[in-house]
Amino acid sequence: IGTIVYENSVTASKAVAKEIADLIRVKQSQKQPCILGLATGSTPKGLYAELVRLHKEEGLSFKNVISFNLDEYYPMEPDSINSYVRFMKELLFNHVDILPENCHVPDGMLPKERIADYCDQYEAKIESLGGIDLQILGIGGNGHIGFNESGSLQNSKTRLVALDHITRVAASNDFSGLNNTPRTAITLGVKKIMEAKRVILLAWGESKSNIIRASVEGPVINQVPASFLQEHNNAIFVLDQAAASKLT
Ligand code: F6R
Repeated sequence: IGTIVYENSVTASKAVAKEIADLIRVKQSQKQPCILGLATGSTPKGLYAELVRLHKEEGLSFKNVISFNLDEYYPMEPDSINSYVRFMKELLFNHVDILPENCHVPDGMLPKERIADYCDQYEAKIESLGGIDLQILGIGGNGHIGFNESGSLQNSKTRLVALDHITRVAASNDFSGLNNTPRTAITLGVKKIMEAKRVILLAWGESKSNIIRASVEGPVINQVPASFLQEHNNAIFVLDQAAASKLT
């Protein structure tokens, strides 16, 4: 799998934003929609800031973009301070000209018995559009992608999952304590991520260096779902120097 190492996360985020902008414009010139898979968390914040800048200062239009977010906590109200719906609105959707009906984030408010059908429909909608053109990923300290935690299967579908303890601990500050941190989430499955035509995984900082090494240089194993990307023919890890520091 390819890796590109940048001086820092700012230059890396700008380069990835440029690739996204180029793809959006190519699709525009072909009169095609551009299907983006999007992530939340701290890692892509600089990327979204740069995309907003490209819209405001360089005329990049998102009118042909259709986005599918990877995941949402469950249960989660869309207006809650920690919801990924709110995150995406505040960091990207509200600041560009993407059509609201083209923004998809898994619904954290569904009754439990409807989740399975909903997840099937989420995947069917992606398929009906021809699949994800470009998937942005972060990585959890345990190697999760989306909320496909350790042990997720390579052919796993979009589903309700139990969050790992380590994932909940990482999120617990945002929820003011572990007790208030959700135990479950809805995540796009590994299979749909692997079917994306292009995958860009972002990772910054020393704290990600061990799991980056395991994902890039270690065996392809369920324990480290990001390692599945070694078997993708067009995936790349975009890293800052600290995240890349343990690569041999
Ligand atoms: C978020 C997501 C997660 C995060 C990962 C890293 O939509 O899918 O896999 O990308 O937990 O989170 P940060 O970027 O906060 O370190």
